[in-house]
Amino acid sequence: MKHLLKLMDLSAKEISEILNLADQLKFEKKNGIKHPLLEGKTLGMIFEKSSTRTRVSFETGMYDLGGMALFLSSRDLQIGRGEPVEDTARVLSRYLDGIMIRTFDQKEVEDLAKYGSIPVINGLTDYCHPCQVLADLMTIREYKDGISGNKLCYIGDGNNMTNSLIVGGIKMGMEVSVACPEGYRPDAEIMQWAEKNGKFTCTDDVLKAAEGADVLYTDVWASMGQEAEAEARKKIFKGYQINAEVMGVAKSDAIVLHCLPAHREEEITAEVFEAHANEIFDEAENRLHAQKAVLVKCLSK
Ligand code: CP
Ligand code: NVA
Repeated sequence: MKHLLKLMDLSAKEISEILNLADQLKFEKKNGIKHPLLEGKTLGMIFEKSSTRTRVSFETGMYDLGGMALFLSSRDLQIGRGEPVEDTARVLSRYLDGIMIRTFDQKEVEDLAKYGSIPVINGLTDYCHPCQVLADLMTIREYKDGISGNKLCYIGDGNNMTNSLIVGGIKMGMEVSVACPEGYRPDAEIMQWAEKNGKFTCTDDVLKAAEGADVLYTDVWASMGQEAEAEARKKIFKGYQINAEVMGVAKSDAIVLHCLPAHREEEITAEVFEAHANEIFDEAENRLHAQKAVLVKCLSK
């Protein structure tokens, strides 16, 4: 695997291999077994948006693997002053062994990979969040003893998370249902692909989508970059919430996941969040293990 730009680029087999390696790295870390698989390697991490989990898990992950990570805020890089991505890619390729980037436009990530000569890992764009969904699939596998055959229901804004969850869920044999208001649906091409390649539905009926679900998932109503729309979105998304009523129509042993950060009483009630905090924080922990697996797959040659 050269890059991780989006989950659509990976086969189910490649996703399973990443998850298997992530399980192994998690077991080794928990048991104090060192695994310096990236000794001497350097990862540059470009951030054009805020981050807690992605930044800290990539940085710690590189350290665990015997390498090091450089935090590169776009506020300080010349890219933030307009240096073309083609040039940034070619320069960073001379210094680093890999780049992780969090930015707005998916094209910027694809261009870094196109013009550079080192692996590029997508740490979130407006279009998708592949690293998060690998951790989500890892968590589902831990709680459900497998992924295929489970029903995943996403409630809320059809955003970067939704796009990646649909692709990852369908590729791994899950039934995926999405409840989004009209006008805030996931990417049209991804939905068409999902309809052709698996069991997929998109509705504005939250309870219908959640019926019989094994996994319930939600994310913020206003993503990074949409702060100005936050108040308007509160009205549009009212009711697109994981709450006791939604839990009541899902399977009795349904798990709840959230990529975080969470807005209690908006997309999820505080009650449901706290009742499912174990799953949600295992999911956050799994970012570390899943991304270490991605780093090993991309950077160790
Ligand atoms: N879920 C996630 O990507 O969190 P951060 O924005 O904190 O990195
Ligand atoms: N949809 C959210 C995900 C954060 C991890 C955002 O883009 O802000």
